[in-house]
Amino acid sequence: MNKKYHIVTYGCQMNVHDSERIAGMLTELGYSSCDSMEEADIVVFNTCCIRENAENHAYGNIGMLKKLKANKRDMIIAVGGCMPQQIGKADILHKKFPYVDIIFGTHNLNHLKEYIRLKESGKKSVIEIYDSEGEIVEGESPLRTSYPNAWINITYGCNNFCSYCIVPYVRGRERSRRSENVIAEARSLISEGYRELTLLGQNVNSYANGTDDIRFPQLLEKVAAIDGKFRLRFMTSHPKDFSEELARAIASNGKICHLVHLPVQSGSDRILKAMNRKYTAADYLKKIEILKKYVPDCAVTTDLIVGFPGETDEDFRATLDLVKEVGFSSAFTFVYSKREGTVAAKMENQVPEEVSKERIMELVALVNSQTREQSAKYVGHTCEILCEDYDTKRGLFLGRDEYGRMGYFNSDKNVIGQFVNIKVNEANGVSLMGEIV
Ligand code: 5AD
Ligand code: SF4
Repeated sequence: MNKKYHIVTYGCQMNVHDSERIAGMLTELGYSSCDSMEEADIVVFNTCCIRENAENHAYGNIGMLKKLKANKRDMIIAVGGCMPQQIGKADILHKKFPYVDIIFGTHNLNHLKEYIRLKESGKKSVIEIYDSEGEIVEGESPLRTSYPNAWINITYGCNNFCSYCIVPYVRGRERSRRSENVIAEARSLISEGYRELTLLGQNVNSYANGTDDIRFPQLLEKVAAIDGKFRLRFMTSHPKDFSEELARAIASNGKICHLVHLPVQSGSDRILKAMNRKYTAADYLKKIEILKKYVPDCAVTTDLIVGFPGETDEDFRATLDLVKEVGFSSAFTFVYSKREGTVAAKMENQVPEEVSKERIMELVALVNSQTREQSAKYVGHTCEILCEDYDTKRGLFLGRDEYGRMGYFNSDKNVIGQFVNIKVNEANGVSLMGEIV
């Protein structure tokens, strides 16, 4: 009988791609994907711990499986990724959810196949967490689920230790894949028909730091030089490492999208210092100026945190001012979440929840108004969309332009994976409505 798997993913793009790696392993074991936990013979939770609500979400979902498992004893439940990688968390998870069969972390994700085999051969439970990261594994076969987009890891881990962030503790020290492996993967994806590649890392700008390999701007140029029509993106850049050379590289090849995600987090120098971000608001604005010098039409998106310990009203106003000055094309906004084990968790002056709530509402309103303003500029113009999907509810195809704006349109034939020009008739907040021309 055909065995089925269902993967539940929380968190960032890195995790989405890790889930594709997990799906590849499950496929090799003879499982095929299904849409619901009820149908599944194995359910894998690929967790995130960057904010408390991501953890709570996972706790809730794992808890809901207790009943299902009681009626379906052969079903395997695996919980992996960032949450169990936190010190002591695997034991907590095991005690709270004794019916979970497999618990693994980020550093041993590539061993999941062995753990499933052990479980299938009768082992009661498999709980394994590695303390530190191992060698980078090459030659995996991720089962990609986002055609025509494909994600390519170029660095793993992070060395920055921003004071609020748990990532360096659960993803380990920064390490980079060899450029020849990245380029070979990119080449093979293009020949398979993928039309948009995104190079992924916590801080792609420090790619290959301290090694004899090429640096990020050259890597970008080399991948862009591969034959074929495709788009090239990258995520995430740390402002402190964003260089003029990178701005020049972006301008050097039309395949590299004019969109940079450059998380600023705060507009207050005092808070940026306490966050250990290693730049000031003025430094950040200077980086944007350099970027725009070479790529004048470059869209910039960002991440912002409100309610960091000690954030005063004045600090928050500085964030609003910076947002106004830069004019981000969109932004992810977060309320600070205290993460045990980080430096900020020990800081005094934690901001009351009501204050953070008020601030986030004001910030979201500002960001949304900027996004709407920028979308409105598209009306009456034509833009090139890479069609990604079909929205069955709306009965429309959708995709993004190079600046990351989502566009919806009608088409008689399936154009997923194709570049289409649409004339924009309407802008609806974050997305555009248009017709093929
Ligand atoms: N609380 C709130 N937001 C956080 N981020 C990282 N850690 C935290 C935290 N403890 C945000 C940052 C980062 C994005 C991926 O998540 O803005 O850029
Ligand atoms: Fe976290 Fe900072 Fe590293 Fe980003 S750069 S993953 S925010 S520690």
